[in-house]
Amino acid sequence: MRFLDLIEAKKRGDALAPDRWSAAIRAIVAGGVPDYQIAALLMAVRWRGMDAAEAVALTEAMIDSGERWKFDAPPGPLVDKHSTGGVGDKVSLVLAPLAAACGCAVPMVSGRGLGHSGGTLDKLETIPGFRTDLSREAFARQLDAIGVAMGAQTEHLVPADRILYALRDATATVDEPGLITASILSKKIAEGASALVLDVKVGRGAFLGSIEATRELALRLLSTARGAGLATTALLTDMDQPLGRAVGNALEVREALACLRGEGPEALRQITLELTAEMLLLGGIERSRDRALQLATRELDAGAALEKFRDLIAAQGGDPAIVDAPDRLPAATDTGDLVATADGFLLDLDPLAVGRASVALRAGRDTREAAIDPGAGVVLHAVRGEEVRAGQPWATMHFGSGADLDTAARLLERAATFGDAAPSPRPLIIERHA
Ligand code: URA
Repeated sequence: MRFLDLIEAKKRGDALAPDRWSAAIRAIVAGGVPDYQIAALLMAVRWRGMDAAEAVALTEAMIDSGERWKFDAPPGPLVDKHSTGGVGDKVSLVLAPLAAACGCAVPMVSGRGLGHSGGTLDKLETIPGFRTDLSREAFARQLDAIGVAMGAQTEHLVPADRILYALRDATATVDEPGLITASILSKKIAEGASALVLDVKVGRGAFLGSIEATRELALRLLSTARGAGLATTALLTDMDQPLGRAVGNALEVREALACLRGEGPEALRQITLELTAEMLLLGGIERSRDRALQLATRELDAGAALEKFRDLIAAQGGDPAIVDAPDRLPAATDTGDLVATADGFLLDLDPLAVGRASVALRAGRDTREAAIDPGAGVVLHAVRGEEVRAGQPWATMHFGSGADLDTAARLLERAATFGDAAPSPRPLIIERHA
């Protein structure tokens, strides 16, 4: 196989047969393809698209690039959740320990920041000592012991996603439905989950703008997952505003801890409870949505999920003291406020601009080699519908050396619209596909 021929074929808009996708992935993982050719293929796919059969073929080729885990006798139903990516989306940090506290076994393999969106691995790795490069044996031991493990793609598990994910992040080629489908489902199938809840984000802060394109993505994810034997439900959830008040890695861990303590933002709590309830239904732990929601709410309010998060941190080498002392998490060296110029209400806050601002502050990466600043990001003192007073800060930028402060401030100023009357509330859960 000549890799250049594949790039030419995708450039023309041809569909690649499964054997060509598997040859391409084998060559990439073997290190036989220069980055510029992989990037060119990704860009051709981004513009020409992939049909459903190609997405299935790429998913299978990516799974086959590494081990496929199977957990015998797990302590509960093997249920996982994955988000298509959003701004301030720290749901997994609350949901994974909560679902485990409710009786699921959660073998969660996550990703890093992608484009303007944050990644669970980058957030977890702000916890001093926390390791995400778990082997199959470590995953299995941890699932048995505490019912939850959270790890990364490695050279053993979906190495193809590890390579493509980092290149997509740095080449503006994230937003293609087939690439998103293969990236998400290769991880979930390879990790050994038997059921999956998808949090498909809709709105400006998601990767696909329109509701129609997002629904199509959800249906493609559902049919591909079910074709691979994974019981799957998808919720379309609001990403037309950042989720919660914190955007940036350690800042989001703090907010997740607050949510686990019952002090978190309502939107984060609600979306987390709904998604956890779907996991309990898929896993057969509860039969009705009401009972599933009740169980999830009870375990969250009783502090069981917080204790599970502490166990998870300790099991993965992290400093569990951060649970009671979040000040031990890394913090940015500097802060800068955005101040309201008049009294009013925050009518709208474009999440894409907030995500881009946080990347400019170095909470995300512009190049594959860039190091993120774990303490960097944005804290919103006002979210959509809240009142602001002239002279008061409505957002604070957290940053250190290397931050592009001017760009971040300009993006944030343009992201916010203020007005005289509170806007009507918007639903957080937009559609359910089961
Ligand atoms: N999450 C992933 O793992 N991959 C994507 O492409 C998007 C979100």
